[in-house]
Amino acid sequence: MDALPPKRVGRMNGSSLMSAIHWPDGSAKNLILIHRTKRAAGFGAFANPLRETMAATLEGKRLRLRQASADDVDARFSLGNHAEIVEMFGVSRSVVRPLTRDGAARWVQRLIDHSHAWVIEVHGRLIGEIRLDNVDLHDRRASMAIGIFDPALLGKGLGSEAILLLLRHAFVDLQLHRIGIRVLAYNQRAIRAYEKCGFVVEGREREAAFVNDAWHDDVMMGLLEHEFLSQNS
Ligand SMILES: CC(C)(COP(=O)(O)OP(=O)(O)OC[C@H]1O[C@@H](n2cnc3c(N)ncnc32)[C@H](O)[C@@H]1OP(=O)(O)O)[C@@H](O)C(=O)NCCC(=O)NCCS
Repeated sequence: MDALPPKRVGRMNGSSLMSAIHWPDGSAKNLILIHRTKRAAGFGAFANPLRETMAATLEGKRLRLRQASADDVDARFSLGNHAEIVEMFGVSRSVVRPLTRDGAARWVQRLIDHSHAWVIEVHGRLIGEIRLDNVDLHDRRASMAIGIFDPALLGKGLGSEAILLLLRHAFVDLQLHRIGIRVLAYNQRAIRAYEKCGFVVEGREREAAFVNDAWHDDVMMGLLEHEFLSQNS
């Protein structure tokens, strides 16, 4: 396996233990876990009334969110793995490895197989991904995950724009009530971006992640439907 060790994307995923352990290069183990999570959330167990609204293309001012396709492998491969980015997902710098073409293909397939995942595209160029994970149609909640993979494009407002596009889709089209995020406390850029989009800090899990030979806290953030709609009407 060309692999990085298992990482905890749970900080992006919220409540599911299944999705909280997966491989950053998009390995098969990751696919299995994601599929289990979908079943646990009710996908496939009963007809989903929102199915037709899933993964619609979402157009913003500077970017668009669209479904992944097999043609995206080269673009993802060329973005590579950057330590300063993957450590924001809880991967220690010492274990970061270059992204392989197979890893890029697995990443693309994972998005294709996911019911609520989009690639982030700027001027026709793939720069990252954004997802709603653990969609729970009974409690009308989900968790959100986002990653821009080009270090040169961080801090330019693109992440906030992508998040706001996704939130409008989540609260208006899918009529969800709550979106949650788990983020490493040292990821101050992400926390600031989430706050700009309306998320508030709801709690803190102390020493929840061991990264770069040290314990780090996770920050729990959330945004409710009425809060988003009152701020963005
Ligand atoms: C998190 C992410 C999606 C945010 O998107 P982005 O385009 O970089 O963020 P934005 O430019 O919209 O907003 C970032 C804000 O943080 C601020 N910021 C940047 N670096 C910072 C730092 N080290 N400390 C505090 N604030 C910082 C910026 O100034 C900006 O705030 P402002 O608009 O008030 O000036 C993106 O940075 C990313 O993909 N990072 C790598 C992966 C990651 O962290 N994913 C999230 C895991 S939970």
